[in-house]
Amino acid sequence: MSCGKNENCYRQNVSNYLSNFGQFLDPQQKLRNSILAEMKVAVTSASGQLGSAVVKQLIKDVGKDNLVGIARTPEKASHLDVEIRKGDYNSRQELDKALLGVDAVLLISGMDVPEKRIQQHRNVIAAAKVNDVQKIVYTSIVGDAQKTAFSPIVHSNRQTEKDIQDSGLQWAIGRNGIYIEPDLEFIDHYVKAGEISNCAGDGKCAYTSRGELGYAYTKMLLHRDRDGKVYNLVGEGISQAHLAELINKVYHTQLVYRPVSVESFERERKEVLGDFIGTVIAGIYEGISIGAFDVESHFNNAAGRPHKAPLALIEG
Ligand SMILES: NC(=O)c1ccc[n+]([C@@H]2O[C@H](COP(=O)([O-])OP(=O)(O)OC[C@H]3O[C@@H](n4cnc5c(N)ncnc54)[C@H](OP(=O)(O)O)[C@@H]3O)[C@@H](O)[C@H]2O)c1
Repeated sequence: MSCGKNENCYRQNVSNYLSNFGQFLDPQQKLRNSILAEMKVAVTSASGQLGSAVVKQLIKDVGKDNLVGIARTPEKASHLDVEIRKGDYNSRQELDKALLGVDAVLLISGMDVPEKRIQQHRNVIAAAKVNDVQKIVYTSIVGDAQKTAFSPIVHSNRQTEKDIQDSGLQWAIGRNGIYIEPDLEFIDHYVKAGEISNCAGDGKCAYTSRGELGYAYTKMLLHRDRDGKVYNLVGEGISQAHLAELINKVYHTQLVYRPVSVESFERERKEVLGDFIGTVIAGIYEGISIGAFDVESHFNNAAGRPHKAPLALIEG
């Protein structure tokens, strides 16, 4: 089919051509060509830890010339060694420019209060639409949308999931498990206290890591067979007592787990972290106590390989 100057049509033809002839290509080449050929991929919040993890993985898969990092604070993303464009979720103007010529974008969930996030994410979706971006992938969250102090955040993520599904773009959604990294960064505090203490009780949490998520999102961005699906991106569920045991094994510590009530944990966390973050953290552990983060994993389907086991996550 002749496409004249229609760039999308041209890309589609190239992609079809490569799919048809894929049987003659070596596996690595085949992997690259099972995606949108010559596509330009953008990652929002590239300066953040998850954004950076995705960009680093994408460099391996598509090369740095096909990547754009979008960042509210571009200088914080300069170490990534890819093109960086400015893009604050609050600025439609910046986002409109940042998504120029982009074929697929990863929207990393914002950090603002839930009421503001929905509109911020809508700004990215709208900018993607005016730029004829073909596909949007969103980093949502596992969790209960009603029963805990973390629920307003989960609820706002569910709204963005719906906005994306209604956008008319091709889409894929990941629901991230809780990161393991903050627990590992907190080990000195745990050791000082001799314990891990929170309101999770016997509840299990299916942790993940930014590295695991970076791997899965790369595949979700690049492979068309992930389109139109919502994936729980989590590993195996473990209790806090089990978490303490695994940390002891890797870090040669002697931590025990001590459960406390939701009320006292929330009070203590708010004193240390302030009202917003303190409430969110208490809400997450309350969510663990009611099983909201012990969900079936779809990681294998999204990433094309199994999720690391909890011990391997802690070993890093
Ligand atoms: N699953 C979990 O356990 C968990 C835990 C924490 C957070 N999260 C969610 O996962 C997301 C990514 O996590 P992370 O580890 O990458 O967090 P992070 O390292 O703290 O990075 C947060 C990123 O959000 C960017 N950002 C904040 N406000 C923005 C705005 N208005 N416009 C554009 N960018 C903005 C920051 O940009 P600057 O560099 O300009 O500050 C930074 O790049 C978070 O945003 C949050 O929604 C999940």
